[in-house]
Amino acid sequence: MSITLVSGSYILAGLCFILALAGLSKHETAKRGNLFGMIGMALALIFAILGTVLQLTDSDLPVSTGGPSWAILAIVLALLIGAVIGVFMALRVEMTGMPQLIALLHSFVGLTAVLVGWNAYLEVPADVATGLHNGELFIGIFIGAVTFTGSIIAYLKLSEKLKSAPLSLPHHNLINLGAVVVVIALAVWFVIDPQLWLLVTMTVISLALGLHLVASIGGGDMPVVISMLNSYSGWAAAAAGFTLGNDLLIITGALVGSSGAYLSFIMCKAMNRSFISVIAGGFGSDGAVSGEEKDYGEYHETTAPKVAELLKNAGSVVITPGYGMAVAQAQNAVADLTAKLRQQGVEVRFGIHPVAGRLPGHMNVLLAEAKVPYDIVLEMDEINDDFANTDVVLVIGANDTVNPAAMDDPSSPIAGMPVLEVWNANTVVVFKRSMNTGYAGVQNPLFFKDNTVMLFGDAKERVQDIIKDL
Ligand code: TAP
Repeated sequence: MSITLVSGSYILAGLCFILALAGLSKHETAKRGNLFGMIGMALALIFAILGTVLQLTDSDLPVSTGGPSWAILAIVLALLIGAVIGVFMALRVEMTGMPQLIALLHSFVGLTAVLVGWNAYLEVPADVATGLHNGELFIGIFIGAVTFTGSIIAYLKLSEKLKSAPLSLPHHNLINLGAVVVVIALAVWFVIDPQLWLLVTMTVISLALGLHLVASIGGGDMPVVISMLNSYSGWAAAAAGFTLGNDLLIITGALVGSSGAYLSFIMCKAMNRSFISVIAGGFGSDGAVSGEEKDYGEYHETTAPKVAELLKNAGSVVITPGYGMAVAQAQNAVADLTAKLRQQGVEVRFGIHPVAGRLPGHMNVLLAEAKVPYDIVLEMDEINDDFANTDVVLVIGANDTVNPAAMDDPSSPIAGMPVLEVWNANTVVVFKRSMNTGYAGVQNPLFFKDNTVMLFGDAKERVQDIIKDL
């Protein structure tokens, strides 16, 4: 096998990744997109390994280090261990655990970029290394270190091992800015004179910066951080690609980096946050959890038979699912309820908030899995004006994404975030297990409105009860 074949397969893999991204942009083509992604990744893996083995076989690695055969054996062993861990994790992870798993995987990409950069520094003697080489590895280690610690904090916050409330050190924007200015100064110095202490100092500052950037961000704003870290991990991979001279890593890293940046931009728009302040880590609340002491009045409880009765008499129903639907795994029951209501002539549509759940597109994936027709699943902007003409809204396990405080209370940590304006409907039924807050940790005045009724219990069980009563 020749190097030309390896390069050709890299181009093919790159094309597959582009087709994967294009496919994933629409419900109807998402499966095909995934398939292209898998084919691209299989091609990339197989040919990257074969290419490396080819290089090693031709290399003159000293026998004292075991020669090429030991290096090849080490690669095979690393592959086997990685594959076993990967399969084990993929089989064990629940859908609700995906966001934290993804954050953890981003942290591995960051760590890899740091290790590749450090290896490149230690491997090439300082008197031989060019300024370009030094600059490349410096940038790679910087992005990698920020991604590494930032993703670990994101993992801890998403898995609720760390409180989602923002850490607000005094002058936190200034701290971030100061760190970036110092890193730029160190970069210039390092390119001219690559001393070890410069790289050590930058690595430590970058690790601390990643930690501080993500720790400063409040729960409600985490979606933007996740997509931002996704983008950073892409740039970290691209930087590692430059250092290793691997074209595919550069292409793939750039694709992930730019699509992640675009996703962050969309998320920022959806959440009414400034893109620049997200990159600077200087957004989110000041840590105050508003309204906790406020008296919201009484809430009204209902039962499944009463909701069934309400639905029988409704002409139009909108379902707004949230993270609780994923926890309860209620999507199939919700799809059955939808089918039953549609059979009875009720117009049923879904209103999806861009950050409902814990992953971009989380609700769309669940509804697609339950075979809910795509044409009745609408985006927030498409449905928001229609609530006023809707008889019943079923809020299934959603909380922050239907919280009117985002619009009415400027001191709320989610202030300014556009939400599904469900309260404009005739009646709102909220499915949840208790009066607990959502991910952002803020109370929801929707629950206390006169036209809202609370249906307590596990969402899947309650939906099944309603189906029985219909
Ligand atoms: P949340 O605000 O997280 O609220 C989910 C609600 O579901 C909770 O109030 C919970 O109340 C209820 N619930 C949990 N398990 C349930 C079950 N088995 N049956 C019935 N209800 C259940 O959900 P949301 O409206 O989807 O908002 C998402 C939040 O996550 C936003 O703050 C968003 O910024 C954040 N976030 C989103 C993402 C992405 S990319 N989507 C990533 C990170 C963070 P009980 O405990 O009382 O049942």
